[in-house]
Amino acid sequence: MSEARSVLVCRRLLPSGLDLLEAAGCEVREAGLEADAGTLRKLAPGSAALVADPTVPVDSDLLDAAGPALRVVANFAVGYDNVDVEACRSREVAVTNTPDVLTNATAELALGLTFAAARHTSGAEATLRAGQWTGWDPGAMLGLELSGATFGIVGLGRIGRRYAQLVEPLAGEILYVARKPKPDAEAELTARRVGLDELLRSSDVVSLHAPGGAETRHLVGSPELAAMQGHAVLVNTSRGTLVDSGALARALEAREIGAAGLDVYESEPDVPAELLDAPNCVLLPHVGSATRTARDEMARLAARNVLASLEGREPPNRVA
Ligand code: DGY
Repeated sequence: MSEARSVLVCRRLLPSGLDLLEAAGCEVREAGLEADAGTLRKLAPGSAALVADPTVPVDSDLLDAAGPALRVVANFAVGYDNVDVEACRSREVAVTNTPDVLTNATAELALGLTFAAARHTSGAEATLRAGQWTGWDPGAMLGLELSGATFGIVGLGRIGRRYAQLVEPLAGEILYVARKPKPDAEAELTARRVGLDELLRSSDVVSLHAPGGAETRHLVGSPELAAMQGHAVLVNTSRGTLVDSGALARALEAREIGAAGLDVYESEPDVPAELLDAPNCVLLPHVGSATRTARDEMARLAARNVLASLEGREPPNRVA
């Protein structure tokens, strides 16, 4: 097998993608879920394509280990903050992602987390399972009613916009923060663009849909949490780095905000102990895109991006 068809899957690729690569004559090696950076560097030499995911830092060391045959880093995710894009550009290595196919799955999970956090369902279920439910109580486990609520959406890209469509039938008002106005979304959703301060102050629910990376690191920290209303719910299904988790745990503890629903963390798979202990906090293990439909399509897209790159065609989802 020539180097030109050698594909290193840095963790694992579902059969829907693997089959496409193998049918096209690629030699595919899967490093497996446990592979660390050292293992990947050992496996990388001669690879023409790396299939990575948000847990795999693709840095200069890995790119250099792969060597000059490398054509593409196909990220199995819409986010690609794990990839050193500049290092790829300078080596003329394309970077691709898997957009669109996970939009519904991720927005639906954000909606689920919104409801779960607003109604404290994790804490309520834990009470029941622990045998501590003493019976119906008019004043117990009171949550936030979402009908008529103001929803604040930070980042009105594909997933943020789908989330806005899903909450629209309930929402009193939809506010959004985005670098540029989105006139079509404003017309469709009667959404209003505001600054982050106003969004935080005015929203009953704040849902984060911005990309990770240096620019958005700790976008929500102590001052931003203090600006939110005491009953407000914070939802994060984008990247853990957007939220200062220590500040969030303190804000929940001090009842500075009402609740949080999180699917992502700053140093996954570590979940900060203070968040595990925080009240009114629903925690999920980064499962935003984890539907069968989304993940199968993501695997197919990653494979198509690899094949296009190796065959000298423009990859369909090139981001750099
Ligand atoms: C993504 O696509 O960026 C997600 O985080 C993976 O679920």
